[in-house]
This record gives sequence, C-alpha cells and structure tokens, in this order.
Amino acid sequence: MRRVNKDQKVRVSLTLNGRKLSAETEPRTLLSDFLRHALGATGTHVGCEHGVCGCCTVQIDGAAVRSCLTLALQAEGREVRTVESLADPDGRLNKLQQAFQNHHALQCGFCTPGILMSFTDYLSRNPKPTEDELREVLSGHICRCTGYAGIMAALKEAAGIG
Ligand code: FES
Ligand code: FES
Repeated sequence: MRRVNKDQKVRVSLTLNGRKLSAETEPRTLLSDFLRHALGATGTHVGCEHGVCGCCTVQIDGAAVRSCLTLALQAEGREVRTVESLADPDGRLNKLQQAFQNHHALQCGFCTPGILMSFTDYLSRNPKPTEDELREVLSGHICRCTGYAGIMAALKEAAGIG
C-alpha cells in the first residue's frame, strides 16, 4: 500500500475519459474535488458531500462510485469516466442522454450527471431491467426539481421497456 505523509503534496495519475492525466494534490483531497479543481472536469457535480444525493457519481474501472466518498489517491492508476465521456466528440448524445432529452428528464440538471453515470454502469450489467429495478437504482439519487416522472420515462426508454 502506498504510504503518504498528510502534510505532503502527492501526485495522482489516472486515466480520465481515455486521457492519461496527473496533478498534485493533498492526500485528503476527495476524488470529486480532484476531478473538478485539479483536472477541470466540472461535469461531475457536488451536492451533499456525504454519499446521499448521488450527483457526484462517476465510474472507476467501469463501476459507479460516489466520488465524494472516494479519495483522489484511491483512483491512482485507475480508469475514471465522468459524464463528459458520454456524448460523441461531435456532441451527439448517446442513447441514455437522448432519452433524457426526449422526456425532458431534467430541469436544473444538477442531479443529471450522477444519474447518467449510475445508469450507464447499471444498464451495461442489466440490459433488461424491470421498472421496479430502475426505481430501486434511482432511489440512490436525489432530484429537487423533476418529481422523477420524466427521469423514469427516460430510463424506461433507454432500457427498452418504455
Ligand atoms: S455529493 Fe456525493 S453523494 Fe452527494
Ligand atoms: S433536475 Fe434539478 S435536481 Fe434534478
């Protein structure tokens, strides 16, 4: 296990959306803050900062994780994907994003990146979920705006059950 001194800056190197990047930070820096402030990936949002709201969800090696409950150091050498990775380079939305647009599944959009990253992982592992299973996963995300109806409609379309 890598040992670090709490008073030293440490260099964290990772692959972000296919690009190898590194930056210096403090050992206590959260992955959410590292992505936003050190690497400029501001698509990942930060709300509660204690694992409840879900808006900071990213993927590490393909698995959805709360980046506010993960130290930047824990992502050392790993493959991190954020919401910026979902659309094509020319801006074309992927299937899940397009479903959100089709059903007006966002208002302020603060919760959206986390929901997209959670379901990108979930639907890759469970391509034919039931509506109840979608609701169960969505229960890990808080949306203050939409009332969830549009989000559920989008998720059902993306899962092919809408
Ligand atoms: S900011 Fe991470 S779960 Fe709310
Ligand atoms: S769209 Fe505003 S919090 Fe979900």
